[in-house]
Amino acid sequence: MARIFNFQAGPAALPLPVLEKASRELVDYAGAGMSIMEMSHRGKAFDAVIKAAEANLRRLLAVPDDYAVLFLQGGASLQFAMVPLNLLAAGKTADYVHTGSWAGKAIKEGKLVGNVNVAWDGKDSNYMKIPSEAELKLSPGAAYVHITSNETIGGIQYRTYPKTEAPLVADMSSDILCRPFDVKRFGIVYAGAQKNLGPSGVTLVILRKELAERAPEKLSTMLRYKTHIPEPSLYNTPNTWGVYILKLVTEWVDSIGGLAKLQQVNEQKAALLYGTLDKSSYWRPCAQKDSRSIMNVTWRLGSEALEEKFVKEATKAGLDGLKGHRSVGGLRASIYNAVPMEGVQALVQFMAEFERRNG
Ligand SMILES: Cc1ncc(COP(=O)(O)O)c(C=O)c1O
Repeated sequence: MARIFNFQAGPAALPLPVLEKASRELVDYAGAGMSIMEMSHRGKAFDAVIKAAEANLRRLLAVPDDYAVLFLQGGASLQFAMVPLNLLAAGKTADYVHTGSWAGKAIKEGKLVGNVNVAWDGKDSNYMKIPSEAELKLSPGAAYVHITSNETIGGIQYRTYPKTEAPLVADMSSDILCRPFDVKRFGIVYAGAQKNLGPSGVTLVILRKELAERAPEKLSTMLRYKTHIPEPSLYNTPNTWGVYILKLVTEWVDSIGGLAKLQQVNEQKAALLYGTLDKSSYWRPCAQKDSRSIMNVTWRLGSEALEEKFVKEATKAGLDGLKGHRSVGGLRASIYNAVPMEGVQALVQFMAEFERRNG
C-alpha cells in the first residue's frame, strides 16, 4: 500500500485508522451481513451510529444541552443561506466580517435575504489579516454577527473570537476540531465536514435551539432549522455514510488524546512550516503574522513558473495538493488534523532541497 502525504484543502486527508476501520466494516457492518450504507436510517444500527456521532461531538466540544447538534446536507454553502433565512427578520440588520473569499460568499447570500452591514472589510490588506475586535463596526440591535473562523483560501484564522452582543455565527468549515473553543460564545457554528470531520456531503450545525424559533412562518420546511431539531437530523434521509465516517473520526480524536492534544500537534506542525517560510526571503508567506492559520498555510515564490515547478516536483515526491486555490494562485499546504507531523517534516525537507536547487 502506498499512501502519499495529502495537503489538499478539502475534501482532505482522513486519519488512516478511520479509513482502515471503514474498509474492514464496508461490506458487513457489525455482523449484519450488509454495509451501513445499505441500512435504513431509521434502523437500530444507524440510530446507534448517529447518536454516538452526536454524543462524541458534544463531549469533545462540551456542547451545552440548550444547543442542537445537527448533521445536514447542502454543504457550508447552504448554511450561507439558511443562517439569514432563519435569523434575519425583515427590518433587522446582520453584521458580517469580510475576511476573504468564504466570508464574501456568505455576505452575498445574506444580501439576498435582507439588510447586511459589512462590519469590517479586509480589502486593504488583500484579505491577509483578521481584524481586532476594536476594528469591527457592529450595528446596534443586529440579528447576528457572522465570522469565518478560518479562511481556507487566504490562510488566515482568528486567534480569539470577538465578544458581541448579538449572537455570533461562525463558519468553522476549515478549522473545527483543530483546537478547543467555547461553544457558549456562539449562537450558531457550522462546518462542511470535508476537512477535519469526515467526507463531503455532511454539514455539522451546532445551534442554540432558541434561535431556531426566529424563522419566518413561510420558510420552506427543509430550510428551517426547527424541522431538524426534534428528531435530530432524521427529518429526511441523512448522509448515512458520511455520519458513520464522522463518528469514526470523533473516536480517532478521542484515541489520540482529544482536542487539547490536537491543538498542540497542530501548532507544532504550523510552527515548523512557518519557520521554514520565515527562514529566507526565497519564500514569501502570504498571511500577516498575527493572522496566520494553523490549518491552511499560503505562500508565494518569485514567479508563477517557479510555483508550477514546485507543485509538479512536490507531487512527484509524494507531497500532493500544494497548488493554491485557483482564484488566488500561489502555494498552499492544508495541514488539517489528519495530516501527520511526518507529512510536514517531509514537506519542509523537500522545500530545503528545492531552494538549494532553484534558489
Ligand atoms: C471556510 C469555508 N466555508 C465554506 C466552504 C464551502 O463549503 P461547501 O463546499 O461544503 O459548501 C468552504 C469550502 O470548502 C470553506 O473552506
